[in-house]
Amino acid sequence: MAIIELNNIGKVFRTREIETTALENVNLSVEKGEFLSIMGPSGCGKSTLLNIMGLLDNPTSGTVRITDTDCASLSDTARARFRNSNLGFVFQSFHLIPSLNVAANIELPLDYRSDSGQRQERVREVAERLGIAHRLKHLPSQLSGGQCQRVAIARAIVGRPSIILADEPTGNLDSRMGNEVMDLLHELNRRDGITVVMVTHNEEQARRTDRIVRFFDGRIIN
Ligand SMILES: Nc1ncnc2c1ncn2[C@@H]1O[C@H](COP(=O)(O)OP(=O)(O)OP(=O)(O)O)[C@@H](O)[C@H]1O
Ligand SMILES: [Mg+2]
Repeated sequence: MAIIELNNIGKVFRTREIETTALENVNLSVEKGEFLSIMGPSGCGKSTLLNIMGLLDNPTSGTVRITDTDCASLSDTARARFRNSNLGFVFQSFHLIPSLNVAANIELPLDYRSDSGQRQERVREVAERLGIAHRLKHLPSQLSGGQCQRVAIARAIVGRPSIILADEPTGNLDSRMGNEVMDLLHELNRRDGITVVMVTHNEEQARRTDRIVRFFDGRIIN
């Protein structure tokens, strides 16, 4: 069963002077439970596609279906709620909030859900799972890069999403930290059945996943 279905996706960025075609006629379905890698040269549209898949950006044309919901039909609030409960995001540069400690960063996706006691419990549970429970009171600036990415992954899974979208999650990490983050993503995929779509420039990491989709110039080439 497809959990993500992209149909004829096109994306054109328009400013007053320039028009950039970032994606053209992209068709892709991701199976439930799959670990998919997206590869391709810089500027070929990988992040643009991931943002569209994650409902962070709208396509210029085409349709996005996630867990059988036509996402274009959702209102802004419904879309935010849908994103919040189905999708977890992990980025190359972590995107943690510098003024919030680790616990508060992890708790962010739960802000509009459940009571505070349950939230704390859930935060502690994922922090323990990711080996950062002893750093809950630290600020992001007091952590290593690998620890920051663990916090970001904890934040991505705290709401129990069915899908994780990761844009070069190991891009800022050394190879040892990178391997640890990859092991975590594989464990979340295998043990928890979370579908993972990951953009990477690392062939070795990509080979460990179920399938590689290659992009060139805004199109899928295989
Ligand atoms: N907000 C924007 N406005 C205008 N053009 C954009 C915008 N975002 C991306 N682009 C253009 O769209 C194309 C695809 O960009 P994208 O960020 O998706 O590439 P990428 O494959 O993720 O590259 P990288 O591997 O370097 O991260 C590029 O030509 C880029 O310049
Ligand atoms: Mg990118």
